[in-house]
Amino acid sequence: MKTTKKIKVCSIFGTRPEAIKMAPLVLEMKNYDQIESMVCVTAQHREMLDQVLDAFGITPDYDLDIMEKSQTLSKITSKAMLGLEEVFAKDRPDIVLVHGDTTTTFAGALAAFYAKIDVGHVEAGLRTGDIYSPFPEEMNRLLVSKIAAMHFAPTVKNAQNLENEGIVKGIHITGNTVIDSIKYTAKDDYSFECEELNHIDYTKKTILMTAHRRENYGQPFDNICQAAAEIAKNNPDVQIIYPVHLSPYVREMAGKYLSDIENVHLIEPVGVFDMHNLIKRSYLVLTDSGGLQEEAPSLGKPVLVMRQETERPEAIAAGTARLLGVDKQNIIDVTEMLLHNEEEYTKMAKAVNPYGDGNASKRIIEAIIARYEE
Ligand code: UD1
Ligand code: UDP
Repeated sequence: MKTTKKIKVCSIFGTRPEAIKMAPLVLEMKNYDQIESMVCVTAQHREMLDQVLDAFGITPDYDLDIMEKSQTLSKITSKAMLGLEEVFAKDRPDIVLVHGDTTTTFAGALAAFYAKIDVGHVEAGLRTGDIYSPFPEEMNRLLVSKIAAMHFAPTVKNAQNLENEGIVKGIHITGNTVIDSIKYTAKDDYSFECEELNHIDYTKKTILMTAHRRENYGQPFDNICQAAAEIAKNNPDVQIIYPVHLSPYVREMAGKYLSDIENVHLIEPVGVFDMHNLIKRSYLVLTDSGGLQEEAPSLGKPVLVMRQETERPEAIAAGTARLLGVDKQNIIDVTEMLLHNEEEYTKMAKAVNPYGDGNASKRIIEAIIARYEE
């Protein structure tokens, strides 16, 4: 009897946001007989990655366990590459999938290239045009685009960015897998895993805040924290919930500026089910995160972006996101305007979803099958 060889697909990720957006793809691959799926995590993040793996019930085939406290970019890159070289030597896939723009993404793509294994880039084509912002992510994704054979672009704009760089082959517009992820997590009736979140009074206007980006380290981070402190003090009827990233720098800053304010809840990073349902309970989102710029609009919440630029202009064009920059007074002014001006708030609080229909994973898998069955 003729047996058809399966296409061996190795998904590589290492941080929380990559895991959130690769998990639905890994789960979806189980439904395809043509695919043999393997998962290799670098564990560039440890606890924050494990939270996502547990939530989606994913057990990696390989775990490089590379995280160190306050790790440098070079160390992450070199440890990930050495570990991946060994994995590929004993368990060689037909194609490696990497996601987005982290150091794991770049190291994964380069290690695969050295082993002459094809690379598929999930969430390809996002650009700001400034190699130092976001740092180092803009360069990571530029370099991965040079290496990849398949480019899974979430939006038409992302595909155009690739074409503008002379990439003509292997582009597939798929939507963003973050919407696939939200289909698993967001519920109408939800009780939080994090007990603290069940005891918060959501009749108060709630600002969900996150901040962690490397390009904001230094003065911008002072500004962000000082702005949050002032918003909380000026508006005692409003509360801020800030799940604080495990980066030692971020924890020091959040603790320094925000720990003694009654209506600021500094909490540990929460699981992805809690996070998506917390967005649903919030009035607005104040963030420098990439993923939250996609999730908040999809869940009908205004998102104020504390960065100088964004690679996600779709939500801004749709009117649910605004780019604030990192000036303290501007962050305060725009946030307070939205807290008090109902007309402006209503204009922004609409569920728009420029990021797809929740079937991105299926499209990615079907494109892979079409390529390798040929
Ligand atoms: C990384 C990504 C960034 C992404 C972010 C998501 C790069 C260059 N940057 O940045 O694009 O937005 O992840 O969160 O890849 N830590 C822990 N436990 C954890 C996770 C982190 O203790 O579970 C601490 C460690 O001390 C670590 C530090 O956080 O050294 C920073 O982590 P790192 O992966 O270097 O960078 P991020 O700032 O998280
Ligand atoms: N997130 C989470 N728990 C938290 C904070 C964030 O699950 O305590 C999720 C968030 O919903 C989004 C992703 O993590 O899906 C974004 O990760 P992060 O902000 O760390 O990285 P970025 O998107 O900026 O790369």
